[in-house]
Amino acid sequence: MEMKPEILEKIKQLEEKYAGMGQTLESYLDGLLMSNVTTYWDYTQVDTLLTLQIPKTDFPDELIFIIYHQITELYFRLSLHELTQLANNGKKIKPSGEDCGWNDKLPAKLFVERIGRVNRYFEALTKSFDIMGDGMEKEQFLRYRMALLPASGFQSAQYRLIEIAATDFINLVDKDARDQYKGKNASIDAMYEFIYWKKGATDLATGKKTLTLQHFEKKYSAEFMQMAKDYQTKNMWAKYKSLSEEDQKDVKVINALKEFDSNVNINWPLVHYRSAAKYLATDKDDIPATGGTNWQKYLPPMFQKRIFFPELWSDTEKAEWGKSWVKKEIFKEQ
Ligand code: HEM
Repeated sequence: MEMKPEILEKIKQLEEKYAGMGQTLESYLDGLLMSNVTTYWDYTQVDTLLTLQIPKTDFPDELIFIIYHQITELYFRLSLHELTQLANNGKKIKPSGEDCGWNDKLPAKLFVERIGRVNRYFEALTKSFDIMGDGMEKEQFLRYRMALLPASGFQSAQYRLIEIAATDFINLVDKDARDQYKGKNASIDAMYEFIYWKKGATDLATGKKTLTLQHFEKKYSAEFMQMAKDYQTKNMWAKYKSLSEEDQKDVKVINALKEFDSNVNINWPLVHYRSAAKYLATDKDDIPATGGTNWQKYLPPMFQKRIFFPELWSDTEKAEWGKSWVKKEIFKEQ
């Protein structure tokens, strides 16, 4: 059989590719002869994926709760995938697929595009949160959640890693402790003691750390502190500052970051808070959160005032952080 010239050309390219790696093409052609073609189920690992939902009770709605948390974690993973690439200036990949390491400098265009991707992931999560808020029977939820204690979404490590990748660590310090460290070149270890979320899991009555927090710290503190140290010079604010002065003034760059800030620190927290309120707040009393904390006073962004890029917002915008939604949704103001 006569070989088509296109095939001969491809074989030549393959020969060059493997010769470049000190390999011979023959062995790899043997491998190709032996191997199976790809199927959808192998590629997506769907059978394994569907074994990962293990309810702790027989309430049917618990499956919705597990799967939606898993979906969220996958979106968080996609977000971290983009943030990691940006932190390292983006990958250089040859058309042949060869990985040639990281770029030396971050191109502004890539910054805008990839922060845009993260924004889309968070918008998808924000838009779909009704699957939690409206998609489960309250009676079932209140029963099966008791079998899950003291686990909480609070213990999502990826959520905290996204925050660390986003901003200078000082902006994650609890707002009441922030001033004592601001501008003082404080160490990550010192600031980590006061990271904002520790307050959200301290028992109000006793001042002790909740079990939820104790477990979380034991498992992840070392990883969080290491990541915070690594990201001091490459978090998204540091990357923004590495752009040229002209690019830093570009509205596309600024808007991408402001949207990112609003998505992670206002929009998602608010839809999450609305769900928590729907299930846990009653006319008489609030149902205690996972670890005995006052979630009503902790979760709303207007109380946390977590802002990744404070330099990009006006004083009024910062003072009003997360309030417009509350006014609209709770007090029905226009
Ligand atoms: C009906 C659904 C939900 C309810 C009622 C709820 C309730 C709560 C409550 C009360 C807290 C405060 C900490 C605690 O004591 O546990 C919390 C924190 C948290 N939850 Fe949820 N949650 C829900 C769904 C989710 C989902 C789907 C995720 C996705 C991963 C999630 C992620 C988080 C995170 C990241 C925190 C920490 C927020 C912060 O520190 O500001 N939650 N949740």
